[in-house]
Amino acid sequence: MPRITTSLLRKARTIDPFLPALLGPCRDLYAAQNELRWLHEHVEKVAKARRAKGDTLAEEALLRQLVVERASGKPLQYILGTEYFGDLEIRCRPGVLIPRSDTAASVTHIVGLLRKAHNLPPELRVLDLCTGTGCIPLLFQHELYSTRNDIDLRVLGVDVSHKALRLASYNLQKVRNTRQYVDKGRVRFLKADILLDPFADQTRGPLPLKTALNLKGQPPFWDILVSNPPYVSPSACWKTTTRSVRGFEPKLALVPPPSKPSQPDMVQGDEFYPRLLSIAQDVEAKIVLLEVADLEQALRVARCARDLDIFDGIEIWRDQPDSSPDDITDEDGFPVLGQGNARSVICWRGTGALWLGKVTAATSKGDDVQ
Ligand SMILES: C[S@@+](CC[C@H](N)C(=O)[O-])C[C@H]1O[C@@H](n2cnc3c(N)ncnc32)[C@H](O)[C@@H]1O
Repeated sequence: MPRITTSLLRKARTIDPFLPALLGPCRDLYAAQNELRWLHEHVEKVAKARRAKGDTLAEEALLRQLVVERASGKPLQYILGTEYFGDLEIRCRPGVLIPRSDTAASVTHIVGLLRKAHNLPPELRVLDLCTGTGCIPLLFQHELYSTRNDIDLRVLGVDVSHKALRLASYNLQKVRNTRQYVDKGRVRFLKADILLDPFADQTRGPLPLKTALNLKGQPPFWDILVSNPPYVSPSACWKTTTRSVRGFEPKLALVPPPSKPSQPDMVQGDEFYPRLLSIAQDVEAKIVLLEVADLEQALRVARCARDLDIFDGIEIWRDQPDSSPDDITDEDGFPVLGQGNARSVICWRGTGALWLGKVTAATSKGDDVQ
């Protein structure tokens, strides 16, 4: 990382005395100026809300405090309290992972494909495992209903973290109160630990997914399984994540627990994927979309999916998966679509191929795609 020069610091100070502190986390003047503007706007908003209640606010002091927090590496989204995920403004709080635009791009892309499908079931069931802020269920619902109103969408977001689930429910309420909200379908959240053995005799703490679905009257079968699980290995967390991520975002959301002694060869970052694929098989998902860190992990996950021998197709999507024909390459027999880093693995079977437009109804005749 290039060091910040004295002349840049001096230039920043002449523009605004708060700017030099922001150069640390932002690295360049343009980004620091943007962040300072957003912090100013945030302080003005807080001051306005206080005035409406008859209170006053020392705006300069609050701005100074926020700049100090940001200079210490605290993510801007935790300071401002929100982040955009697609078109949705999602509430962020410390203790819950901040939604990323790459995740939103995969969700928008898959829903874009589904929106064109002629043969979706009247009730489309989507299971989002490791839901965090609830950003994936909410964007899925928002994107699907932006053009389709013939589907009863049922989305269930699952997480082990109470903090995440509380925030997800808050986000659902917040999105419901916006003008863009289409009041159709159902979005719900559920607490479960997806790493637990479904047959474990769990009496304390979070339940295994199967038991939780059962107890909460949720269906056992789901059409689509989506997940952005913790996928960073401890060494990659140390080497590849920024100080903001390492120091402020929850480890529970980033790094999976150590592998079991029965799986000594498993890369620790991969811990969730075999379980997610096994759940996909149990719930009879026709489409599975799993976020990954990079191409190496994408290939390990894609091979794991291929070894299961239940999918009719497996692809790897990059950060911007809306590919033109030129943006498709091949890695170990898997098509890799789009531009940027490898970001997700998508698998489909049966009718899932039709829903994604991978085959047409005519070409699929005689296959088990009903
Ligand atoms: C990478 S974050 C993804 C959050 C959100 N889906 C997103 O894309 O921003 C992973 C989430 O998995 C949850 N999680 C971690 N271990 C889990 C487990 N054993 N069972 C269920 N959820 C878990 C964390 O609480 C965290 O919210």
